Amino acid sequence: MSKAEKKVKVAVIGCGVIADFHVKALNAIDDCEIAGVYGNLPEQCKEFAEKYNLKVFTSMEEVFSSDCDMITLCTPSGTHAEISVNAMKRGKHVIVEKPLALTVEECDEIIETEKATGKICAPISQLRYSDNVRQVKKAVEAGKFGKLTLCSVYMKFYRSESYYAGSWRGTKKMDGGGALMNQGIHGIDILRYIVGNVKSVQAKVSTLVHNIEVEDTAVAAIEFDRGALGVIEGATSVMPGYPRRLEICGEKGSLAMEEDAIVKVDVPDLDLKISKNDAENFKDPAAFSFEGHRRQFNNIINAVLGKEKLEYTSKDAAETVKLILSIYKSSETGERVYL
Ligand SMILES: NC(=O)c1ccc[n+]([C@@H]2O[C@H](COP(=O)([O-])OP(=O)(O)OC[C@H]3O[C@@H](n4cnc5c(N)ncnc54)[C@H](O)[C@@H]3O)[C@@H](O)[C@H]2O)c1
Repeated sequence: MSKAEKKVKVAVIGCGVIADFHVKALNAIDDCEIAGVYGNLPEQCKEFAEKYNLKVFTSMEEVFSSDCDMITLCTPSGTHAEISVNAMKRGKHVIVEKPLALTVEECDEIIETEKATGKICAPISQLRYSDNVRQVKKAVEAGKFGKLTLCSVYMKFYRSESYYAGSWRGTKKMDGGGALMNQGIHGIDILRYIVGNVKSVQAKVSTLVHNIEVEDTAVAAIEFDRGALGVIEGATSVMPGYPRRLEICGEKGSLAMEEDAIVKVDVPDLDLKISKNDAENFKDPAAFSFEGHRRQFNNIINAVLGKEKLEYTSKDAAETVKLILSIYKSSETGERVYL
């Protein structure tokens, strides 16, 4: 088979909520094929494999010694670093769901292992593949807002007690954090994508209504490298929950997004389509399309085949994790934290 015809063989690890999105997205890409699936719950794994007509791997070792080129990691966040590092050391590229990992040390180990093995560890941030998010980023880069002044993201979500009950979600070890590290990371990552890196944070996080080890309510005042200020709010404690709201404001104009819709544009010479948000994923975490994943996987598969540069790297994802960890540190110490 010539290089142009080579398909990247991907093994799916984990068979829960997000694994469905991964299988649908991979099935929609010509240059890859699914090698099979492995999950640590054999019954669930068998059922998942039957649903999509996939081969079942019965252990991680079987995946590592197979001829697959890549794994895609749909397992709880606390497993990401160890499995990613082991996979790269066994010669596999990795796609890893958000968050990349739960500590600075874990993020650094992933980045070091990529360098040492020459393998890719590609983290997921599917909102970076939204047309609207990209248009807003482009407008910022073209100077349409003038000097940016206030750039904020508000994520007032609701999750029920049953969402957390008996699950890895809400635990320190496997979730690493709550409303920010799990649910809010998407909004925080696109804020960084559009505005740039954050220089310092002053924050307070609390666990107000859920019986969990991590925060369900958080607020941070942030200062970007470029000088703009902003606010990050994240919660799973707000009934009934509101759509994620992103506000980019500057000396020449301002804009607001709700979920993926641009709902307000007051920027001179910026012709963006205004629409009404109808997404429900601020209430139901599985109520979104797999299109964002498909677009990002397309870039990742092309990067593995040497056809494109990898757009979203582990280094970039690590900055988002480090920002969230800085928010936790500021809350713990009461001090402003410099990144
Ligand atoms: N990008 C997104 O929008 C998005 C949405 C939801 C979840 N996620 C992320 O995806 C990951 C999984 O979340 P989920 O909601 O699908 O969880 P889930 O609990 O529904 O599924 C987790 C799966 O992993 C399996 N598993 C657990 N430990 C394992 C191990 N050591 N080896 C092999 N399999 C193992 C479980 O059996 C289960 O099948 C999390 O990191 C989460 O943050 C991302």
